[in-house]
Amino acid sequence: MFSEHPRGLFICFATELWERFSYYGMRALLIFYLMQHFLFSEQESFLIYAAYTALVYMTSLLGGAIADRYLGARKAVTLGAVLLVTGHFGIAIEASVQIFYLCLALIIVGVGFLKPNTSTLVGALYRPDDSRRDAGFTIFYMGINIGGAAAPLLCGWLGQTYGWHYGFGLAGIGMLAGLFVFLRGQRHLLGYAEPPNADWLRQPTVARLSREALIYLATIGLVLMVWLIMNRRDIIGPMLAAFGTITGAAILYYAFARCTPQERDRLLVCATLLVFTIAFWALYEQMGSSLNVFADRMVDRHVLGYEIPAPMFQGLPSIFVILGAPLASSLWMYLGRRKREPSAAMKFTFAIVQVGLAFLALSLGLNLTEAGEKIALGWFVLTFFLLTSGELCLAPVGMAMVTRLAPQRIVGVMMGAFFLAYSASSFIAGHIARLTAQSIPSQPAASNTASVASYAQVYMTLGCVALGAALLLWRLAPLLTRRTPDVEA
Ligand code: PHE
Repeated sequence: MFSEHPRGLFICFATELWERFSYYGMRALLIFYLMQHFLFSEQESFLIYAAYTALVYMTSLLGGAIADRYLGARKAVTLGAVLLVTGHFGIAIEASVQIFYLCLALIIVGVGFLKPNTSTLVGALYRPDDSRRDAGFTIFYMGINIGGAAAPLLCGWLGQTYGWHYGFGLAGIGMLAGLFVFLRGQRHLLGYAEPPNADWLRQPTVARLSREALIYLATIGLVLMVWLIMNRRDIIGPMLAAFGTITGAAILYYAFARCTPQERDRLLVCATLLVFTIAFWALYEQMGSSLNVFADRMVDRHVLGYEIPAPMFQGLPSIFVILGAPLASSLWMYLGRRKREPSAAMKFTFAIVQVGLAFLALSLGLNLTEAGEKIALGWFVLTFFLLTSGELCLAPVGMAMVTRLAPQRIVGVMMGAFFLAYSASSFIAGHIARLTAQSIPSQPAASNTASVASYAQVYMTLGCVALGAALLLWRLAPLLTRRTPDVEA
């Protein structure tokens, strides 16, 4: 798989695999840890979870920008990995809620430095005209999902069977492996994604510290700031609104003041589609929060006499992605050869339809389940399957769309906007999850008819809202596609 690619690809692949291993391993347990270990109410737990996931992708904006301007991707990834190892091991041994928040802050800033920049590094390994680039990204995306599939299975099982700290500890060991691989592989990355101005970075400034050292110190400041925000979670909504408005206004300004008419049309199409991704991810991101709790409480998880712990199901989407991604890309290529490949707008429409169907299926399953019984596992797996098949129509397509439709000069910013949309969705997802929260969590939920009815109601509404959004996009699609005739199929 790697023989025809630069050696550096393997290093990025393995680093990102382990980073996602630690991220998804920890996240599979997180909601239960909040509810069962810290005894936060269910509603509060969803909000803390939402704050964490929203901040993770918000800092990616900053991590990307600092790497572009000062550190270069190679140093930024190393910094991120060190923060992540510290954060994950911290959670494994932490004792108080404040130290826990501090560890979450380390992870948030760590992902911010690592995640966007490993992708940049992959891109940097290939010259612009290198035809291996797409294949390189496909391999990289596989790495993400191998980590995402294995971690919930292993950490979820350890955490639920032997105790939280074993699960979190394994996530930490995974991240340590990532840091190790990345440091060992440095020579394969030298020359790619170096700091744009290494001399400037080395120059001593205040107290004879180099600028590089100052950036590292500022990073510690950033961690402390995020820690503070984790304690003042009510400001995350306004922060997102402010960033969103500024980004939206900047894109509009740029489109009308700095672009040729053709660039403007493409940029506006790209921005419009990004708005629709928010609807998609906000529903998709129920996975780690409300659907995780749902699996624990409402689903009959017995297979061959063994009751599978709920967090282990968090690995399913990645397994579906590994199996389905080659199928999806062959389908697009097959249709492309016949000049029938759907436009990005149509693929997004399919994606939103699928999340809608996912929730309608679950709600139907609940309605068909006898009172007092748990819902059959098949309904739940079907829901995860539909969420993932939707993801395959949107996530890879979305990234490619940004690089294709945004003017080259602002691709980085538009990638940032993609992450910001994900961040906003994670925040909204938490508020949606809260609607499913039970007021008396100790009551066995499947026999609690009020709780069953509330899940069925919320998930049916979500399904209908998604179908409405899909209908809107379907109507808009021809208009959008007409504006980008030369880059769309
Ligand atoms: N599974 C993807 C990942 O962890 C989800 C994602 C898509 C995250 C796009 C950010 C941006 O990489």
